[in-house]
Amino acid sequence: MSDQAQRLRQMASNLKSEIKQKSRPLGQHRSRVVAVTSGKGGVGKTNFAVNLALGLIQRGRDVLLLDADLGLANVDVVLGTNPTYHLGHVVRSEKRLQDVVYRGPLGLKLIAGGSGLNELLDVGDMELKRFIGGLEVLASQSDYVLLDTGAGLSRQVMSFVLAADEILVVTNAEPTAMTDAYATIKVISRQNPAANIRLVMNAVEDDQEAELAINRLTMAALRFLGVNVESLGSVPYDGSVTRAVKKQQPFLLAYPGTPAARAVKELAANLDGGDAGAGSGLFFDRLAKFFSNLRA
Ligand SMILES: Nc1ncnc2c1ncn2[C@@H]1O[C@H](COP(=O)(O)OP(=O)(O)OP(=O)(O)O)[C@@H](O)[C@H]1O
Ligand SMILES: [Mg+2]
Repeated sequence: MSDQAQRLRQMASNLKSEIKQKSRPLGQHRSRVVAVTSGKGGVGKTNFAVNLALGLIQRGRDVLLLDADLGLANVDVVLGTNPTYHLGHVVRSEKRLQDVVYRGPLGLKLIAGGSGLNELLDVGDMELKRFIGGLEVLASQSDYVLLDTGAGLSRQVMSFVLAADEILVVTNAEPTAMTDAYATIKVISRQNPAANIRLVMNAVEDDQEAELAINRLTMAALRFLGVNVESLGSVPYDGSVTRAVKKQQPFLLAYPGTPAARAVKELAANLDGGDAGAGSGLFFDRLAKFFSNLRA
């Protein structure tokens, strides 16, 4: 009898927390908005962003991945999904925002930016506000919003990066990529000295190379820019990444036991652990402001 009472109590408590979770008021939950960016192109942003998203989902988080690459957006290629509609269709009022949210593996929510983010520069203030408001409601249903941005420092890319709560600068250890990563950190920190920037050292040969490269970059940022850039960690060079790209499957799922997959899971834990709190809730205000300014 007491066993049964205990079971009932447990059921009631489970139900309560489920209801609490489901009735999270829209627009009030503060998702963490994390931009994944780089100086040099082709250093592994998209692969990292996609697999990081899946790593976070495996930790029980709800993740929305926004492909904010304005040039060669390819989150969908890495995931093997084929989104017909993107934000451009929403900006042109041909589709509703919820119609362009695709489901990837493990329930990952995916929005393709397409031409939409450029088209936002041509819409009126009211439309911009309505669009960004919609995006905000959608984001409020997720724990994380990850932004996969294009490489480089175009003003639209910078708008997304600067509006985010946290910025992950991906680089590899090659001098060209390191120089460009440093330049990116410089530009971001000039615009916002309080920006929360962390480094992801990708495609390293071994721990020693990773440590050396991370030290070099973080020391240079501190010494010459006065900016404290922490490292989120490193991901080894791993042939399974390329193999997975060819299969159009994320390596975390296709090759879960390989060094790259294990490293990304660890980085997801690093991001999600520690002082993992809510985001600032200011991303969308800042984004609206930046886009307004771009048009001015
Ligand atoms: N850890 C890794 N080990 C081995 N190869 C990798 C690794 N990370 C990325 N690559 C290779 O680099 C290629 C480019 O990666 P990805 O498309 O993610 O880069 P990107 O920074 O998003 O590029 P872009 O600037 O064009 O958006 C991948 O197709 C893969 O072959
Ligand atoms: Mg990319």
